[in-house]
Amino acid sequence: MAEQKSIHGLWRSRWLFILAATGSAVGLGNIWKFPYITGENGGGAFVLVYLACICLIGIPVMIAEVTLGRLGRQSPINTMHALTKDQNANRLWGGIGWMGAVAGFLILSFYSVIAGWSLAYIFRMAGGAFDGATAESVGATFGNMLSSPETLLAWHTIFMVITIGIVARGVNKGLERSISIMMPLLFLILVVLLGYSMSTDGFGAGFEFLFSFDFSKLTGESIIVALGHAFFTLSLGMGAIMAYGAYMPKKSSIGKTVLTVAFLDTLIALIAGLVIFPIVFSNGLEAGAGPGLLFQTLPLAFSHMPGGTLFGTLFFILVAFAALSSAISLGEPVVAWAVESKGMSRVAAATWIGIVIWILGIGTILSFNLWSEYKLFGKTLFDTLDFLTANIMLPLGGLLIAVFVGWAMNKADVKEEVKMGSPLMYTIWRFVLMFIAPVAVAIVLVNGLI
Ligand code: PHE
Repeated sequence: MAEQKSIHGLWRSRWLFILAATGSAVGLGNIWKFPYITGENGGGAFVLVYLACICLIGIPVMIAEVTLGRLGRQSPINTMHALTKDQNANRLWGGIGWMGAVAGFLILSFYSVIAGWSLAYIFRMAGGAFDGATAESVGATFGNMLSSPETLLAWHTIFMVITIGIVARGVNKGLERSISIMMPLLFLILVVLLGYSMSTDGFGAGFEFLFSFDFSKLTGESIIVALGHAFFTLSLGMGAIMAYGAYMPKKSSIGKTVLTVAFLDTLIALIAGLVIFPIVFSNGLEAGAGPGLLFQTLPLAFSHMPGGTLFGTLFFILVAFAALSSAISLGEPVVAWAVESKGMSRVAAATWIGIVIWILGIGTILSFNLWSEYKLFGKTLFDTLDFLTANIMLPLGGLLIAVFVGWAMNKADVKEEVKMGSPLMYTIWRFVLMFIAPVAVAIVLVNGLI
């Protein structure tokens, strides 16, 4: 394929791509979701399955997704459209871009609501709302927040406005600049918190919970959840990483870069687990507390530690940063498409798309209070959206990407673009992408749906 140019700009260096992609990958998935789903699915064995999914499926698919982006240099919808033409492939492959766009809308709609919780908690911590807290009182504070649609809506609105504000400023002035401030801070604070959790008496129990493998606790559903989470945490299967790949400088080796991103993402998830579970166990809390885990354990821990108000506030600022650096990557693919294909300015595109997502988010808000009784297959609207996107749409998108790159595209074009340094690594990657990843995802999806 002839060399394409991005009209949105490029990352200024390979490291900025790494930072941006890590910013996309590291988010609520690592700090909020990973600990609570690990808690709900019994700990160590789940972690092992998740790690296997990252290595065997996530990394190969991520390499493929970045490759597609850099070849097409446009929004995922237009990249897929251009590539199917260029490769003489069936036009239906273009569906990868469209399905990703839908998944992005749905994910950002609930993601923003949860990110809103972290904004709310910044102010609660700073205002001393948790001084002298007990396990019951933090539970009650969290419950009161969830039962108020107005409060949730206010924070959801603020988070969406900030997200749109960054995306509207474009790749270099918006995304790149915000990411280079947020990411280093995020890492620093996690390390400080790890130091704190190591000093609690629950550290051993927390460590064991994460790393001792008891397979009797694994169910069929936990395997789908682990696979879905591998896609969710690496931002795969919906075009976010494809869009970021479209802005990647030509020279960089995709394989090495992706390995760095996946390594950092996994490291941060494990550190988050090592911060949270020791605190859970040393305070006699339940590991299986669900989505509220982070918002109940940490305020409790901070309320008992010297300087807790300061560290606690900082911590929730960082959760918000992590969420923001992911949210912008959820919005970018569709905004880029509207700029390319609808002739909109970036500001107009980001605003309109943001409004639609903001409205969708109201459904998630109500599912925590007024609509909490309405259930589909025993799941609230929020649970349904989460399950549908993370556990079905993202793996399906990833499966299609693997098959498209592995089977439908011209081998030489792919080989030239990935620039894998070692021929052995290239052969392994290609084999896994063509056979192992699609078959594994298909088996898990089919089993899960039946
Ligand atoms: N990877 C992000 C997280 O772990 C979520 C995300 C999913 C972002 C899909 C972009 C695309 O929080």
